[in-house]
Amino acid sequence: MSPLLLERNHVVTFSGGENSVQFDVMRTRLLQVMRANGWKRVAITSPGPGCGKSTLALNLAFSLGRQPAVSTILLEMDMRRPSLARILGLRERHHFARVLDGIEPLEQNAMRHGENLAIATQSGAERRPAELMQSPSTAAALDAIEAKYEPSVILCDLPPVFVSDDAMAVMGHMDAALIIAAAETTTVKEIDRCEREVAAQTNVIGVILNKCRYMEKDFGYDY
Ligand SMILES: Nc1ncnc2c1ncn2[C@@H]1O[C@H](COP(=O)(O)OP(=O)(O)OP(=O)(O)O)[C@@H](O)[C@H]1O
Ligand SMILES: [Mg+2]
Repeated sequence: MSPLLLERNHVVTFSGGENSVQFDVMRTRLLQVMRANGWKRVAITSPGPGCGKSTLALNLAFSLGRQPAVSTILLEMDMRRPSLARILGLRERHHFARVLDGIEPLEQNAMRHGENLAIATQSGAERRPAELMQSPSTAAALDAIEAKYEPSVILCDLPPVFVSDDAMAVMGHMDAALIIAAAETTTVKEIDRCEREVAAQTNVIGVILNKCRYMEKDFGYDY
């Protein structure tokens, strides 16, 4: 993986350092909530597209990956528009959809980063995303991954809630959810509606306002 490409793609926690501080704070709070409730699976979703879910998922994953006592698995679960492989610049072709389908093991469709982070990706859109997300094999695969690897956290990069049924099809299998909103494009109404729909299926940990352009200088991210 190229640190330069990652940085260009706004993945700032790969190399650690000052840029990752905000995400390290988020990581620590997330771990506290997850542990206190015995939760493992966190959905990362948003009302509409392009709010920064996949970028945030990767930033959180690398931040979690630097905690020696924590093991993390990040799963690509946007089968219509998978993007983790592209953001990471992976050359290898992985098909996490085949794991959800129950026909291939996770190890064949995930990359490892260090000792305690694995990222499952999907090269190219899956032909029948809705069917796959609703299939009992997807629920079974998530259970099997959790049982076999016993990770501390499973981050699931889901599609947006309002674009298709895909995200809501698996929301009931999640222990908790983070909702990402884009500061200048997501409306309060959309956030409200999304939060209500997600909260009907799982525990909403919080709404993260992303892509804030005008922030106090000492508040963090400068992009
Ligand atoms: N905090 C940020 N500041 C600036 N740009 C950002 C930020 N977060 C994400 N982006 C950029 O916004 C675009 C969309 O990000 P990303 O792909 O992570 O969103 P997404 O919610 O996963 O999209 P999709 O709905 O298509 O899955 C990318 O170009 C990404 O680099
Ligand atoms: Mg995405």
